[in-house]
Amino acid sequence: MSYCVRLIHREDIAQVTEIDREAFPTMLPPTNYQRELKSPLVHYIVAYDDQKMVDGALVEAASRRPVPRNKVAPPGRQYIVTFAGLWIMAGEAHIINIAVRQSYRRKGIGELLLISLIDLAIKLNSLLITLEVRASNTAALSLYRKYGFVETRLRRGYYSDNREDAVVMTVEDIGSAAFQENLNRLKQAHSRKWSIALYQIAP
Ligand SMILES: CC(C)(COP(=O)(O)OP(=O)(O)OC[C@H]1O[C@@H](n2cnc3c(N)ncnc32)[C@H](O)[C@@H]1OP(=O)(O)O)[C@@H](O)C(=O)NCCC(=O)NCCS
Repeated sequence: MSYCVRLIHREDIAQVTEIDREAFPTMLPPTNYQRELKSPLVHYIVAYDDQKMVDGALVEAASRRPVPRNKVAPPGRQYIVTFAGLWIMAGEAHIINIAVRQSYRRKGIGELLLISLIDLAIKLNSLLITLEVRASNTAALSLYRKYGFVETRLRRGYYSDNREDAVVMTVEDIGSAAFQENLNRLKQAHSRKWSIALYQIAP
């Protein structure tokens, strides 16, 4: 299996909403991605499984004969497995959300998206990245810590569904040589583990 990261397209909204509902079922009201994408401050990316189409057609074909590497499904039929959003203002990037389809978790995809978000934040001249995460979300906390995010404060009762605390995490100086060096080391380890050759965000 391999995954391609690209900027979100309007055709992805239905699948992104589906992943959002699966990942954040208690968030009310649900995020309106039609509206969200209109903001010039917001940047969303997705990754799709290049062996599968929305209707499953490519999967069946692939089981009989391999899909040629240069032949991918057109946007709108690509099977989106993850999405993430970044909000950028005044040199600061804020990770709005990151979610992977349940059946695709623990395959390095969340990490692939986080690497892509960090690359995007650097490209857009951000100096630091912040985010909020539920205090009980051990998977996400571990992912962010791995990439150097540190817990800077606690927002008590931040989440309205169960009054859970939010942990605010930040990574500073993302343009620094030290951060870049660590990021490259993590990318190389991720690339070796998951056989990913290229880290880039397609349009
Ligand atoms: C958090 C999430 C995005 C991780 O995605 P994923 O594709 O499963 O994660 P990966 O396979 O890329 O794992 C990368 C790292 O994340 C951490 N991690 C992921 N799942 C974990 C788990 N179940 N328990 C502990 N650590 C976990 C580990 O540090 C892991 O690194 P390792 O492989 O070296 O141990 C995914 O669990 C998800 O979509 N959760 C629901 C939505 C959500 O909570 N988003 C975060 C909002 S702030």
